[in-house]
Amino acid sequence: MDTIGVIGAGQMGAGIAQVAAQAGYRVLLSDVSRDVADKGKTGVAKRLARAVEKEQIAAADRDAALDRIEAVDSLAAMAEAALVIEAATEREAVKRAIFAEVAKALGPDAILATNTSSIPITRLAQATPDPARFMGVHFFNPVPVMKPIELIRGLATSDATVARVEAFARSLGKTVVHANDAPGFVVNRVLLPMLNEAIFALGEGVANVRDIDAGVSLGLNHPMGPLTLADFIGLDTCLEILRVMQEGTGDPKFRPAPLLVKYVEAGWLGRKTGRGFYDYAGAEPVPTR
Ligand code: CAA
Repeated sequence: MDTIGVIGAGQMGAGIAQVAAQAGYRVLLSDVSRDVADKGKTGVAKRLARAVEKEQIAAADRDAALDRIEAVDSLAAMAEAALVIEAATEREAVKRAIFAEVAKALGPDAILATNTSSIPITRLAQATPDPARFMGVHFFNPVPVMKPIELIRGLATSDATVARVEAFARSLGKTVVHANDAPGFVVNRVLLPMLNEAIFALGEGVANVRDIDAGVSLGLNHPMGPLTLADFIGLDTCLEILRVMQEGTGDPKFRPAPLLVKYVEAGWLGRKTGRGFYDYAGAEPVPTR
């Protein structure tokens, strides 16, 4: 498996491209346009430059990794990839359209994988050319830093597909976690109720933003408080995952906190929009409640 394809050059896709290139793979990186794919590659260049400054990697290794990433114009280029990872927007219609397009190029032995954080793999498989060669490969943000990769097989995923993707994940130096195709898989199943509860606590006036984050982060030894983490993930993404778990399980314990719904309705989506539970306009994030 020398060449891999990554569809989506945003935070997740660019991170996946970076770790794959650093592990020696040639990476074809695509997005809605060549321009957007190029921007994803520029972000990788900046992160690798910082790693050189910190003397974590040699300049020659940075150059070699960047040379291995090729921003491409269209999904037709994915014909050369042995594994294609879709890391586009977390919307089912978008992913289905991508699968229909990439199906025209995908090689007869090539594997298609999705980085979805919540959409059922078995259902998505129906939109792919061969459900036996399709599975979930869920990276965590920031991809270069976070150790695990969740592997999720759909009902029709073959053992050979799982084995090849597992070997790829391990070759990136990541720790593989197997999860069944249940709503939220493993990590988000456990994480999202905690973030949601922090937002309920905020909405009910149990404590303010700073105290919830300081208490949980220091009290549980988590690197970020839950409201900081929710802003980091994106409040729209948090809401979407909670809704998938609520609908998928029918269990009301996953109902989204009303304050989370309000923030998303207000367009306060966290870091990416400059405001969530914190305001990111200044040098330091400022709690908003
Ligand atoms: N991309 C690449 N590297 C990054 C990065 C990014 N966006 N942000 C930080 N880093 C690196 C830094 O370069 C630094 O590397 P070195 O130690 O090698 O120098 C390291 O991470 C630590 O960074 P900082 O010192 O700047 O900051 P920090 O110590 O506060 O750590 C953090 C930042 C790694 C993001 C840390 O706060 C953390 O681990 N937070 C929790 C993240 C988390 O829970 N992620 C999972 C989200 S859930 C998810 O992704 C799944 C889903 O489906 C929603």
